[in-house]
Amino acid sequence: MRTETPPLIRLEEYRPSDYLIDRVDLDIRLDPHATRIDATLALRPNPAGIPDAPLNLDGDDLHLVSVALDGAALAADVYTASPAGLSLLAPPQKPFTLRLVTEVDPTANTKLMGLYRSSGVYCTQCEADGFRRITYFLDRPDVMAVYTTRIEADRAEVPVLLGNGNLIESGPIGDDRHFAVWHDPHPKPAYLFALVGGRLGKAETRFTTMEGRPVTCAVYVEPGKEPRADYALDAVIRSMAWDETAFGRPYDLDVFNVVAVSDFNMGAMENKGLNIFNDKYVLASPETATDGDYAAIEAIIAHEYFHNWSGNRVTCRDWFQLCLKEGLTVFRDQEFSSDMRSRPVHRIAEVRGLRARQFPEDAGPLRHPVRPRAYAEINNFYTATVYDKGAEIVRMLRTLIGAQAFRAGMDRYFADNDGRAATVEDFLSAFATVSGRDLTAFARWYERPGTPRLSISGHYDPQGARYTLRLAQSLPDADGQEGPPLVIPVALGLVGASGPLTDATCAPVRDGVFVLDRPEAEIAFEGVTEEPVPSVLRDFSAPVRLDLGLTDAQRMRLLAHDSDPFNRWQAAQDVALRLILEPDARRMEAFAEALGRFLDGEALADPAFAALVLALPSEGEAADALPADVDPDAIHRARRDLRSFLGQSLRPRFKRIDAALVPVAGAPYSPDSASAGRRSLRNAALDLLAAGDPEAGAQRAAERLADATNMTDRLAALATLALIPGETREAALADFAARYADEPLVLDKWFAIQAQIPEAGTLERIRRLQAHPAFTLTNPNRVRALIGSFAFGNPTQFARADGAGFSCVVKTVAALDSTNPQVAARLLTAFGSWRRLEKSRAAKAAEMLNGIKAIPGLSRDSADILARTLGGG
Ligand code: TRP
Ligand code: ZN
Repeated sequence: MRTETPPLIRLEEYRPSDYLIDRVDLDIRLDPHATRIDATLALRPNPAGIPDAPLNLDGDDLHLVSVALDGAALAADVYTASPAGLSLLAPPQKPFTLRLVTEVDPTANTKLMGLYRSSGVYCTQCEADGFRRITYFLDRPDVMAVYTTRIEADRAEVPVLLGNGNLIESGPIGDDRHFAVWHDPHPKPAYLFALVGGRLGKAETRFTTMEGRPVTCAVYVEPGKEPRADYALDAVIRSMAWDETAFGRPYDLDVFNVVAVSDFNMGAMENKGLNIFNDKYVLASPETATDGDYAAIEAIIAHEYFHNWSGNRVTCRDWFQLCLKEGLTVFRDQEFSSDMRSRPVHRIAEVRGLRARQFPEDAGPLRHPVRPRAYAEINNFYTATVYDKGAEIVRMLRTLIGAQAFRAGMDRYFADNDGRAATVEDFLSAFATVSGRDLTAFARWYERPGTPRLSISGHYDPQGARYTLRLAQSLPDADGQEGPPLVIPVALGLVGASGPLTDATCAPVRDGVFVLDRPEAEIAFEGVTEEPVPSVLRDFSAPVRLDLGLTDAQRMRLLAHDSDPFNRWQAAQDVALRLILEPDARRMEAFAEALGRFLDGEALADPAFAALVLALPSEGEAADALPADVDPDAIHRARRDLRSFLGQSLRPRFKRIDAALVPVAGAPYSPDSASAGRRSLRNAALDLLAAGDPEAGAQRAAERLADATNMTDRLAALATLALIPGETREAALADFAARYADEPLVLDKWFAIQAQIPEAGTLERIRRLQAHPAFTLTNPNRVRALIGSFAFGNPTQFARADGAGFSCVVKTVAALDSTNPQVAARLLTAFGSWRRLEKSRAAKAAEMLNGIKAIPGLSRDSADILARTLGGG
């Protein structure tokens, strides 16, 4: 049996549903192996649909117990049913009810879609198409219903019963059982349905909305871990307050619940009133979570909460509009984090993420428009492009129309589409209306895949005191032809020898932004009295690749004097990137000198920013900058040499930083961004010191490990030590494992650090770790920590010339595909850049990928990724 290319669903084929469902009444009896779902659906023909059409309900792996129409059992000849669907051949052409009883086995559900059990806790995951694994349904987001859910279970096994909306009734049944009834008054698509049942502890607090509604907010976790839920709960409250002040959006139910589960396919899910989270993004204590974990928890709690408006109150008409909720909600959570933390530092972190994940995706065979036009498996489109480039589009829109019109447009969008399933066109039309602008050309950002290239050159005329910039954009279509131009907001300014040239003027530049909406443009600044350095794409005003051909000296002027923190950071990155791609001793020295001056001047004034300046572009980013023939070993060596050189030549500075940032003895750990910034700079200094002098570095890192009073410092020291082969490293790794033997989430960090060691022995280490008692293929976090970190975070070993790294990942995909296809397919995307590798490695990758094709019964998820990875250019 050979894997076929799965059939495509196309945007242009969208049709409204022939039937609608207004109300859903569920009665669910939880049982480990035979959970019974008794569903009553209130249906009616859709006036916008085709009259007399058959009713085709979706199903996936369902076992039908009984079906009745308007109270009467259905005759066998009026319907067909299979695990994959139920059809009524001639449904009534007036409102009617359908009562469906199905039975599912939550314990056997390894796909973690639909109703499943995670460490004994019953939970659901319905986005994108998991509800059809619970009951037969019109499982599409434009079918919105009001849900009432009665849950019944054994009281000892399942003391906590949670559903969407508000709790309206609960009580005992006899001695052993109990029930709860939840009602959600807000109509919603099935993908937002959720229930949870289990033995859970909670942290709880109250919040009063701007409308005066009292809300009980709770975070449910494994009993005993309640103190680790406090930070997430605090993030909930801050998110609620922020959405009111920043967007005027209050919460709309009496309760808001968050539940942490340990087996989860992604980060978290925004089910109405009942967000379900991967516990990695809830649980935090100074002993178990790093500063990065705290920041991620804050961001993801906010993200899911913000979906209550951008996703739930206004949902998507169909899955092609996924960016409508995801891109917008990422933009909103980024704004939240920027307000909670340092805005420039956060912006740099966002862009690093975009370049690490979205740029390579947009440059490889898995590229797709932010609004895809066709898909075989929607779960494969929860991508960096939809989420992160989607957020960049919203950000550009705000830059183009201004913050005030943007806010008015958001208000308009929410007002016009509340309770509806909307499209990207609905979104844009709200902004077009309030701003009076024509956004037709701007909308191309949603349609055109690939990262545009923006080329800029400058010319100075000292006699005329005039500086001219020539800008050109390029984004070829699949056929190599230049497509219609995009609307690119280019934030820019000029920088003189001692600072920004504030007197220079240029009419087309408004509020520091030039809008490039043609293939090319030339703009001139007047009153320029010295030769400036252009600072272009400030704050990364558009998701493009910039060709600006500055010299190192010009870049160092930006690092020293630009008013835009992003471009100061970018300037140092640009120099470092070139030094990795084309090593040069003289230029390396000059770079070290400039960095030294920078560190002397202000490292301690903004430690988080300084730490980012010291973080050189990753090996992945260097690979991404090359046109083809990528040799990961060469990139690794060049980057290692640069780090080593900087470690040696800046050693006194790093030692000074290290000493200046010693934490106050006895001071309690605080995850706030200023404290985290100090830790990040001190740990960056430690890491570069070790790069410059591995022997002394190993010693210092081992001491730091012993002294550490929090996971941030401990893990940073371990990561530094992991790059230095020897006894000290192995002893530290063993110690760490013993210390956290009962902490799966901490052992994930330990798996990840080892999986990323850039040494030939790592594959053997991974084989050993796969047999470690804490490792299991059934838990997605474990798989991502060990195999995911290897595939996505260890370029030299994943792409080993002998193909053994590819083989390791392919074997995991093969072993996982039948039990959890979503996680398997995600892992397979690590091959996305295989064609850009040098020939022998690319040949090995192709050989491995072709080998997967032969796996019998390969999932649609993996088959789709495979077909596109091998197919597209
Ligand atoms: N909608 C979720 C978010 O981004 C993510 C999500 C989509 C998801 N599909 C999922 C989470 C499947 C878990 C499992 O907020
Ligand atoms: Zn989301």
